[in-house]
Amino acid sequence: MTEQTIALVTGANKGIGYEIAAGLGALGWSVGVGARDDERREAAVEKLRAAGVDAFGVPLDVTDDASVAAAARLLEERGGRLDVLVNNAGVTGGMPQHPTTVDLRSVRTAVETNVIGVIRVTNAMLPLLRRSASPRIVNMSSSVGSLTRQTASPDERVTGPISVAYSPSKTMLNAVTVQYAKELRDTNILINAGCPGYCATDLNGFRGFRTPEQGAAIGIQLATLPDGGPTGGFFEDAGVVPW
Ligand SMILES: NC(=O)c1ccc[n+]([C@@H]2O[C@H](COP(=O)([O-])OP(=O)(O)OC[C@H]3O[C@@H](n4cnc5c(N)ncnc54)[C@H](OP(=O)(O)O)[C@@H]3O)[C@@H](O)[C@H]2O)c1
Repeated sequence: MTEQTIALVTGANKGIGYEIAAGLGALGWSVGVGARDDERREAAVEKLRAAGVDAFGVPLDVTDDASVAAAARLLEERGGRLDVLVNNAGVTGGMPQHPTTVDLRSVRTAVETNVIGVIRVTNAMLPLLRRSASPRIVNMSSSVGSLTRQTASPDERVTGPISVAYSPSKTMLNAVTVQYAKELRDTNILINAGCPGYCATDLNGFRGFRTPEQGAAIGIQLATLPDGGPTGGFFEDAGVVPW
């Protein structure tokens, strides 16, 4: 009998993360719903279960060492293996974020959640991932983290709003992804960054023109890469995103 694949999605109580959890659950996987708020987490778990997903709640604040360590312990107690980690939890840090006037708390919040949070969670989960036959790590990034795209046009309608916290945090997340891929190149772990496109979620006041389900597709694709697939890359539905 083949073992059930086990995934953890951070920030899975709503938006793109919820849809990634739903999509992985639809494959028959067991999905940990990582979320910091008890009520929102349990509501998401219930909704996923009602849809037939084998979902379980994982209390998780990615900015908190103790919370992340407790999440790793919970997975350890549930069987001690993790096949797929989707680092999806993310924040803008609060807008506006013009470099010359930014509240430094915005920068700290974005970096603490979108970059340090990913490193914190990944390192806590690596011992569990190393016990998987085909471990995958997906970092949900953004095309606004692409320096190539940011410098392609000064027009905010093309490249998104000026942001000295959110966009650079995603640029750094991409760079962090590359460094993990370098260190893990001799292992079976594939780690990639995914760009969901502009999706209507709380993050942007529901202004995005794609659905969260559409945004989840690249996360699901990178979570289900075959052995020998790419690592250290940055992808969207249409293919490679330029750094
Ligand atoms: N929407 C877009 O157009 C878009 C475009 C490019 C990239 N992305 C990226 O896609 C990912 C998902 O975004 P989304 O649009 O689905 O946003 P969202 O609806 O605002 O969801 C963000 C999720 O992250 C969670 N989260 C935030 N801080 C956390 C923390 N410290 N610990 C644990 N969970 C935390 C939130 O939980 P709470 O409910 O507790 O706040 C929520 O579940 C993010 O990384 C985002 O940067 C989104």
